[in-house]
Amino acid sequence: MARLLVIGFVLGATAIASAAEPSVKRGRDLYMNVGCYLCHGTEGQGSGAGLKLTPDPLPAEAIANFIRNTDPTTPSFAAMPSYSEKVLSDADVADIAAFLASIPAPKSPDSIPALKDLKPGK
Ligand code: HEC
Repeated sequence: MARLLVIGFVLGATAIASAAEPSVKRGRDLYMNVGCYLCHGTEGQGSGAGLKLTPDPLPAEAIANFIRNTDPTTPSFAAMPSYSEKVLSDADVADIAAFLASIPAPKSPDSIPALKDLKPGK
């Protein structure tokens, strides 16, 4: 009985912790495991099949709203599938949003010496 209480406490504490603070690491794992990366790239950089999501991704609520209500009739060769709450809970989407928000903007070409002098017309 005491052991069950301890397990219950640990599970409860884990649930509270993940509800309070979205996890970048968990978000990255989810992003890879459910296949977002296949269309949007491993860093959200986009690909031929999916839009660029980073830097400055949409907020978690907007991402959740979008992924739950995709339009399968969108004329695209790789229309985005819908993800219900059974597949990705709101907490899961918050973790994915935290992962996307953690991705920094790319460096300016001017900060890279080898690229600095490669401007058109030079
Ligand atoms: C089969 C390819 C595919 C997969 C897998 C996919 N997407 Fe997409 N996604 C798209 C395409 C194509 C669009 C643009 C289509 C549209 O606007 O209806 C899009 C649009 C979006 C947008 C809206 C971006 C904007 O600025 O309007 C978000 C956010 C997004 N995807 C997040 C995700 C997340 C998170 C996952 C994983 C849970 C995911 N996508 C999985 C193809 C995909």
